[in-house]
Amino acid sequence: MYWSHVAHLRVIIRPVLIAFITISICVLWIHSNTSADGKLLAATQSVQPCPLISPKLIGWTNLSLETMSAMSKEDEAIVEFRMKEAGVKAGGRYEPSECRSRHQVAIIVPIRNRTEHLTVFLRYMHPFLQRQQLNYVIIVVEQSERWPFNRGMLMNIGFREAQLLHGKYQCVILHDVDMLPEHDGNPYTCPTNGKPRQMAFSIDRWNDYNSIPWSFFGAVSAISANDFQLINGYSNAFWGWGGEDDQLFQRTRSQNLTVVRAFDGNVSQVVHYKTMSHPKATPNPDRMSLINEGWTKFKMDGLVDLRYTRLDLKLKPLYTRIVVDIQPYNITT
Ligand SMILES: *[C@@H]1O[C@H](CO)[C@@H](O)[C@H](O)[C@H]1NC(C)=O
Ligand SMILES: *[C@@H]1O[C@H](CO)[C@@H](O)[C@H](O)[C@H]1NC(C)=O
Ligand SMILES: *[C@@H]1O[C@H](CO)[C@@H](O)[C@H](O)[C@H]1NC(C)=O
Ligand SMILES: *[C@@H]1O[C@H](CO)[C@@H](O)[C@H](O)[C@H]1NC(C)=O
Repeated sequence: MYWSHVAHLRVIIRPVLIAFITISICVLWIHSNTSADGKLLAATQSVQPCPLISPKLIGWTNLSLETMSAMSKEDEAIVEFRMKEAGVKAGGRYEPSECRSRHQVAIIVPIRNRTEHLTVFLRYMHPFLQRQQLNYVIIVVEQSERWPFNRGMLMNIGFREAQLLHGKYQCVILHDVDMLPEHDGNPYTCPTNGKPRQMAFSIDRWNDYNSIPWSFFGAVSAISANDFQLINGYSNAFWGWGGEDDQLFQRTRSQNLTVVRAFDGNVSQVVHYKTMSHPKATPNPDRMSLINEGWTKFKMDGLVDLRYTRLDLKLKPLYTRIVVDIQPYNITT
């Protein structure tokens, strides 16, 4: 009699208990998703790392003169509005909202009097980099008029300023302003330590897209922040066109870094670069004698003894603009 009563109770209690637990879970779930903390938690948890291959890639772009001229003619305010809507923040920073990027990339662009190239570069590169789901910033370092162009030193300054301004980027991409990657399958991701990546090796105007020798380490190159520190950046001693990139290659060799290329250096449409035309700069007559200096010299000339005067710093809508005054100085030991 007593036991059958208990059994009866059990039959009633179990579904009630199950219903109670189910309702409690629902209430808790709704609560956690509506309260401010809950929302934050849900948001950070749902941001997964981005896929290894971005689903946003569109492939090859026909960078004809018509395309580039249309890009340069578009109204600035409209472009800036569109970029802002796409998520570009002041200083030309971006990170994807749909996932957590695997790469923090600072793109360093040294310039002087190439404003028409810069316009096309920015308008093309922002959407390009976004399609690769990168966390990136575009930093443009502009040299004042006094001395011949010093590409290496401007790169060193960009590297230094990127770290000061925007915190730690995993890597830098050292990028000439007149080079455009034609295909968004060309990775602008960070290379691993020990393996800097030469990105521009198949270029329309140089050798009609045929592969450039493996010792070439200029135009567009990617290197981890660690490795750039390790090799002490570029030499500051190259004034005028040429040589600083060859010496950078020597620096990677002296530290046993291996320069790699995407797709094992196989030339296909994916790795093509288009150049924007410009008059050739004056070559540096001393460049050959400066290239092959030994590691003891490398160690003293570069990031460690970098000296410059920052004339201006602006977080422009599409890029961080740094104007510097630089001049030659003797390497101190
Ligand atoms: C690229 O565009 C130009 C000009 O619009 C056109 O003449 C050319 O045929 C196009 N190239 C390809 C491969 O589609
Ligand atoms: C660069 O542009 C400035 C003005 O923006 C001009 O004064 C200067 O002469 C130009 N320099 C060269 C090398 O074209
Ligand atoms: C590079 O490799 C060589 C040969 O293995 C070695 O002797 C040298 O110490 C290495 N240099 C550095 C900087 O690691
Ligand atoms: C590059 O080409 C070589 C032969 O030409 C081939 O064996 C290799 O698999 C290719 N590598 C890639 C990553 O496509």
